[in-house]
Order: sequence, then structure tokens, then C-alpha cells
Amino acid sequence: MDLWSVRFEIQDNLKNIFSEYVEDFEGYISSSLFVNEDKDKKKYNNFHLNNITSNKFGEFHQNQIWVLEVFFNQEPDIKKISRKLNYLAKELKTTEYFFYDHLKKDKYSNRLNVSQISQKNWLKYNRKSFPIINLDNFYIYGSHNNKNCSASKIPIKIDASTAFGTGTHETTKCCLKALTFISRFTKSNQILDYGCGTGILGISSKKIFKKSKVTFVDIDKKAVKLTKENLKLNNIVLNKVYLTNSYHSNKYTKKQFYDLVFANILFGHLKKLAPLYSFIIKPNSFLILSGLLNEQIPYIINWYNKYGFKEKKIFSLNGWGSIILISN
Ligand SMILES: C[S@@+](CC[C@H](N)C(=O)[O-])C[C@H]1O[C@@H](n2cnc3c(N)ncnc32)[C@H](O)[C@@H]1O
Repeated sequence: MDLWSVRFEIQDNLKNIFSEYVEDFEGYISSSLFVNEDKDKKKYNNFHLNNITSNKFGEFHQNQIWVLEVFFNQEPDIKKISRKLNYLAKELKTTEYFFYDHLKKDKYSNRLNVSQISQKNWLKYNRKSFPIINLDNFYIYGSHNNKNCSASKIPIKIDASTAFGTGTHETTKCCLKALTFISRFTKSNQILDYGCGTGILGISSKKIFKKSKVTFVDIDKKAVKLTKENLKLNNIVLNKVYLTNSYHSNKYTKKQFYDLVFANILFGHLKKLAPLYSFIIKPNSFLILSGLLNEQIPYIINWYNKYGFKEKKIFSLNGWGSIILISN
């Protein structure tokens, strides 16, 4: 079976809205997002490339241009697709998903890049968007790859078709580094993977702390479903996977319980969640916060100090950082 790919550029704070929107297009199979390496700033004149932007959820984003690539199992109707994309852009009152065409004075000029991919190349495409990650003791591989690691490595198999968390993002990598660091001097028993995405952090923790109980929480239904599938792929049973849409949800927040909590969910949420974490985390236990830009870290440490947490260590990669905090 041959496939078609349609690509277009999009600014950071809109990438999730557009990725969800294209899922309803006729013939849609999947999509992937990657950072556009094209550094020609002139081309991106009408993109507002300040340092940081925030979206309607109060999440902060580093300003980058992304490419959203959408895969179809039938020849896409490009006119129809551009009409739909233009419609969403107008609804969002944005000019930031296409270039502004100054000559034509057409705000929504169509720059969709379409190509047909043969089945052979499709595998190559898939691998490119989810390469194997060899990080510390972890060997993270997609369900399309074969396990091919040495016995000293911890293999983690991840299907990342619909949720964030393949291990390729800096925020996830920093959390995995923090996990390795903690595992050198402590054993965690009750772990919470808050904003689990694919479940990558909870699954990695379970593989390191074999006797632990891990709870997974996400506001996104797709993430919860995928985490359940990834638990099966890694032969992990008896873990709890919850869906939450409130900061003070039930089930997993009944009492002071956890000795290791991960939250890779961006600045705005992390700020709001401080009281909840101070309630559910045992004394002398670890909280790993991620999804932060380096410049946001001092503020968050200060904020969490007020809730009884102290800084233990910071990990940083390409402008993104994670903090290990310890509760008092
Ligand atoms: C950046 S991804 C992190 C995924 C994975 N934990 C990782 O480190 O790769 C953030 C995840 O948190 C979820 N999320 C965002 N805000 C949340 C909230 N307030 N409560 C629970 N989950 C949330 C999102 O749906 C998404 O799956």
C-alpha cells in the first residue's frame, strides 16, 4: 500500500491544535511533528519569533517552527485540505501556520508540501520520527524496531502513535537522567507518573524499581489508552492508569502516598500543582519537575520552596531543564 504525506510549517503554540484537527481528515492515518531546521529567518517574517510564547492553556513554549507531517492512505484532496486549514487559521485569528505572501497579499497562501511514499520508504519515515534512544542504562525503541541491545541495558518498548513521550524530547531525556541519578542512592516504592503521555517515565521507573507500584495519570484519553498498551508491550501488570481533568482529582490523591513523582507538564500546570504535590508526597521523597525552559527554573524552585520542597539537582539539555526536588 502506498501512502501520501502532506507537510506544512506551524508555530510552536499552535502545533497541538492543528495536529488534533487533521485527525478528522479523510484518509488520515497518523501524523508526526518535528522541529524545522531551516534557519532562514527571513522566510519566517510573519511568524512571531520572540523568545517565549504562551498558549491558551497558559503553557509556555520556546519559539520554534515545527513541521507537521500528516499521512494519508489515499491521495489527499489538497484543495479541500487547504480550505479546512484556512478555516481553522481564521477561527484562531492566526497567520502563523502559513507564510504571509506579501506579493499576493494573501494571508493564507497555500504552501502545502505533498508527496507520495512507497511502502518501502514508509518504514524509513517511521524510524526517522522515532529513532532508538540509548540514554544512561535505557534502550528505548519503537514498536516498529527490533530489540537489539546489550544485556546490560534496560529495554523499553514504546508505541508512540498518538501521545507525547518517545524519549526524543529534551524534557523526557532530562527526567530519565534524573531517574538514573536517584536510583544510585535510593529505592522508590510508590511512584506517580503525572502527565504520563506514553507512560515512558513510569515504565522506566518500574523497570528500575522492580517492586514498586506505579500510578499513571493524564488528562488526555489517548495518552491513558496508549499507556495501558505500552504497559502490556513491556509485560507490566497491576499498575493503575487514571484519567484526570482536575487538579484535585480523587483516587490517586487520597493521602500522602508517593516517594517519587514525575511531572513533565510545563510551567503553568507545575505552578498550580504545587499544593497538590506537597499533599501527596511523603516526607524526604522526590519530585521531578520537567517541561521547563532554563530561565523558568529559578522561579519554580522559589515557588516550590514555599511548599516545603528543596532543590536537589538540576539537569539541562538544549535550553530545557528538569529539577529534582526533595520534600521536607
Ligand atoms: C510533555 S508531555 C510528557 C509525557 C511524558 N511524561 C514524557 O515525559 O515524555 C505532557 C503530558 O501531560 C499531560 N498533561 C498536561 N497537563 C496535565 C494536567 N494538568 N494533568 C494531567 N496531565 C496533564 C498531557 O496530556 C501530556 O500527555
